[in-house]
Amino acid sequence: MAIYEINGGTPLNGSVVISGAKNAAVAILPAALLVKGRCRIENVPDISDVRILLSILSGMGAVIRTPEPGVVEMDCTDIRQTLPDPALVKKMRASYYLMGVLLGRFHHSHVALPGGCSFASRPIDQHIKGFKALGALVEEGNDYVAMNPGPHGLQGNRVSLDVVSVGATVNIMLAATLLPGRTVIENAAKEPHIVDLANFLNTMGADISGAGTDTVKIRGVASLQGGTYTIIPDQIEAGTYIAAVAATGGDVLVKNVIPKHMDCITSKLEEMGAQITNYDDSIRIVSNGRLNATTVKTRPYPGFPTDMQAQICVCMALAKGESRLTESVYETRFFGYCTELESMGAYIQIDGKTATVYGMEKLHGATVRARDLRAGAALVIAGLAASGTTRVENIHYVERGYERLIEKLTALGAKIHRVEE
Ligand code: EPZ
Repeated sequence: MAIYEINGGTPLNGSVVISGAKNAAVAILPAALLVKGRCRIENVPDISDVRILLSILSGMGAVIRTPEPGVVEMDCTDIRQTLPDPALVKKMRASYYLMGVLLGRFHHSHVALPGGCSFASRPIDQHIKGFKALGALVEEGNDYVAMNPGPHGLQGNRVSLDVVSVGATVNIMLAATLLPGRTVIENAAKEPHIVDLANFLNTMGADISGAGTDTVKIRGVASLQGGTYTIIPDQIEAGTYIAAVAATGGDVLVKNVIPKHMDCITSKLEEMGAQITNYDDSIRIVSNGRLNATTVKTRPYPGFPTDMQAQICVCMALAKGESRLTESVYETRFFGYCTELESMGAYIQIDGKTATVYGMEKLHGATVRARDLRAGAALVIAGLAASGTTRVENIHYVERGYERLIEKLTALGAKIHRVEE
């Protein structure tokens, strides 16, 4: 088992280059399966979720080359079988996008239920609602979902989501792209990775409009051709580094970002006392490490992202005074990391959807355990800011979503090592 060993208390200084967005990559790579031709996809992050997806796709017959770091060339013209390897599918969450692409391209699919971070119950009823609206007969087994065309075949339709769901919005877009007729997704998610997926599909010949608003319109096309596409930078990875500098103190230029995607995160950290300067494709953050308390309510994009809840909580744990953190997307997300932070000296009271965080002068090192991707990232931030040594276990969660984490943090002056135990 590998762990991170961190000697905390050192401010972070220098510059860090942000990788391609995980949540865009895990939607765009399966989307290439809709294309009869070669796709060249650039700025792909080298993280375990991407490696697993590429293994699944090549196991289905996709011809995949990685001519240089961050570039994936994929040709899915001759996909030879449509059953994704269940053992690999269960290793991550976004493998469920294969349901939408297989239904859209082959008009049937049989995919194991996904795995991934289990910080909350993560139902897929809205995905199923969308597939049924497109005419699919859906069989929900206890560990798989199988779909075939219903009596009227598969065609575009209107789908009104009961919940703003990134996954359901993506899966319905993937299923509808090649189906005859027009699909309208109402109450759609507006995250940057939804827009990125729509831009990728349109580059390959799809006809999608409205991505980034709450109404996405897809006019089915007969086929998609190959092309080249560059994935957007990861706003959550960038937010994680910005929160780390806010907590440890320091002066860092975060490069290869789209500042607009970060507005909610950077304005909150400015409120807490960090100095933020936005440039065209980078953000500079300067902090003395002693922040002001604040209030945060997580919301679907463009609100404060739930995927930054744990990271901002660490900043609150080191702030002057009482902060309030309310979660509106996944109510049980606090339990992935708050107990661990308390073992480092944090004082957090959870009452339903709201955590009250009583800021402390300092945190101290401890041995802590990651329980999901962002909880693990938050524990790394806490270790970087704490006095003494922190050991973070279960770091496979962290390595699902953060490319070259040790290299990037070490370059900023962090004293962190990956130790095989
Ligand atoms: C995506 O998960 C992200 N994962 C998550 O990021 C992120 O936390 C989440 O969106 C919210 O932004 C990927 O993109 C791979 P949702 P997803 O469907 O699609 C409820 C990370 O750290 N819901 O938008 O699973 C659900 O329970 C990961 O990178 C239903 O009720 O999230 C939740 O309360 C963690 N029925 C809310 O909607 C459904 O069918 C939002 O979930 C689907 C969702």
